[in-house]
Amino acid sequence: MSKQLRIGIIGSGGIARAHAEAYGQLDNLVIAAVADIIPGKAAEFIAQTGLAEAQAFDDHRKLLELDLDAVSICTPNVAHYQTTIDALRAGKQVMLEKPMSVTLDEAVHMTQVAKETGAMLNIGYQPRYDPNTVLVRDLVQSGQLGKIYYVETGGGRRRGMPQGTFIRKDLAGAGAVVDIGTYSLDMALNALGFPKPLSVSAYSSNHFGTNPLYHPQASAFEVEDFGVAMIRFENDIVMNFKISWAMHMDTLGATMFLGTDAGLKITPAGTGPWSGVFDGRVGSITLYHDIQKHNTHSEIPLIDHKLNLFHEKVRDFVQAVRENGPAPIPGEQIVRSQAILDGFLRSAELKREVEIHIPEL
Ligand SMILES: NC(=O)c1ccc[n+]([C@@H]2O[C@H](COP(=O)([O-])OP(=O)(O)OC[C@H]3O[C@@H](n4cnc5c(N)ncnc54)[C@H](O)[C@@H]3O)[C@@H](O)[C@H]2O)c1
Repeated sequence: MSKQLRIGIIGSGGIARAHAEAYGQLDNLVIAAVADIIPGKAAEFIAQTGLAEAQAFDDHRKLLELDLDAVSICTPNVAHYQTTIDALRAGKQVMLEKPMSVTLDEAVHMTQVAKETGAMLNIGYQPRYDPNTVLVRDLVQSGQLGKIYYVETGGGRRRGMPQGTFIRKDLAGAGAVVDIGTYSLDMALNALGFPKPLSVSAYSSNHFGTNPLYHPQASAFEVEDFGVAMIRFENDIVMNFKISWAMHMDTLGATMFLGTDAGLKITPAGTGPWSGVFDGRVGSITLYHDIQKHNTHSEIPLIDHKLNLFHEKVRDFVQAVRENGPAPIPGEQIVRSQAILDGFLRSAELKREVEIHIPEL
């Protein structure tokens, strides 16, 4: 019988509920503490979610003084950095919500502290647990496409702008690019084996978020609702990345990998104004190739499954905690995505291409 794990949750908003529910599916585990910076909010969360054994805190540092095996960090993006550093230094294994951070410096430092302390830093990208995302990665890595030279990823919601902490620069750091762009970027980079990004030329805007016609909190909207970038990687790969929370268009296209021998197209699943971006499930996978010089395409049958991807990511993390690592989705990998997001924000502000330099980890 494995030992009972003691888990803490830092940040008790929307996604913390999904964490609590996913932990609740697992045996030999107790949520022992919840912290939220808003006084009384953690206690309210504990009462509402029926976490009978959990203590409530208004300061995450007090929670970290407890004897806990691991913590889930579910704060808005800007608070990811300090809470993660404090948790790692307190010797807790960390499940951190996406995006890892806002700036590259933060992501690098978080990874270094994980290495230094030996505590695990795992970033929670549940789409990685979709068997069809795994299939995409395996197809790309099989070599069937030949030399991959161009990738297009991202997508667009016709109307799907969040509210609250997501639209404030001091809390979210940025908008659609770090919120939903990070998923399609992760899918593409993971399939490519995380090549090193070299430069990015980006554009962003917020014509919808700041317009009261489209957003109920338009006067408080401080981040981008649309972004597009050309990213150069080592090995002569370029990527066209685009993302929108709102637009007057049905789609910004699929994810595509163009190779010298074949091409692969992946469409996102889902319908309706909040869909159109890859944020969990794959809609279709098509391989474009020639047979006897004939242009041909093959629909790759999707793997039918009933997995709850969020539960899978928490289950995998807990297993890694029990086995004392390694992190299923380690900071070292995600630093490369964060370098792109950081470059994106710098380039969009400067309105020119910027170089990306990732320090030694
Ligand atoms: N993986 C997913 O599917 C998914 C979905 C939604 C959100 N997220 C991510 O989860 C994070 C939180 O999103 P949310 O929707 O729960 O936001 P939210 O605003 O609903 O909740 C965040 C909570 O954190 C608290 N908080 C802020 N700073 C804190 C600090 N220093 N210490 C303790 N608590 C603090 C806030 O008071 C709030 O209650 C974001 O980074 C978001 O990108 C992931």
